[in-house]
Amino acid sequence: MKKVYEFLKSAQTYYLATVEGNQPRVRPFGTIHIYEDKLYIQTGRSKEVSKQIAVNSKVEICAMKGGEWLRVAATLVDDNRREVKVSMLEAYPELKEMYSADDENTQVLYLKDVTATFSSFTAAPEVVKF
Ligand SMILES: Cc1cc2nc3c(=O)[nH]c(=O)nc-3n(C[C@H](O)[C@H](O)[C@H](O)COP(=O)(O)O)c2cc1C
Repeated sequence: MKKVYEFLKSAQTYYLATVEGNQPRVRPFGTIHIYEDKLYIQTGRSKEVSKQIAVNSKVEICAMKGGEWLRVAATLVDDNRREVKVSMLEAYPELKEMYSADDENTQVLYLKDVTATFSSFTAAPEVVKF
């Protein structure tokens, strides 16, 4: 789990794919945070991505760093606890310009049933599940 966090954190940008009906949707994301031994991301409930996750919580993340890439297949779980939002906003203070732990919009979700695959052109893929 820590290795996935560190890869995504140092890659800075990852791509989050959701499903809308039979149409895949993908966009850049950056938030990644550990709270209570779980990996969290942050979004806004008003966004299409949030609405897609509410209907189908299965997602895939892809990130690249140097000659390595990481794919993370997971289910996202909405966690509406204020303390998790506070922790996320502390980790990403720049988000406080748009979000607060007490607004109706801020959403944090953790990754569950994770299969993470680290790949490169030079080594066999490494699969981590948590
Ligand atoms: C580098 C980068 C990082 C981003 N990180 C996030 C993020 O962590 N959470 C988020 O909700 N939006 C983030 N965004 C903005 C989303 O990509 C953008 O709002 C997107 O349109 C959301 O997808 P949707 O239109 O399908 O709802 C980021 C954008 C960029 C360029």
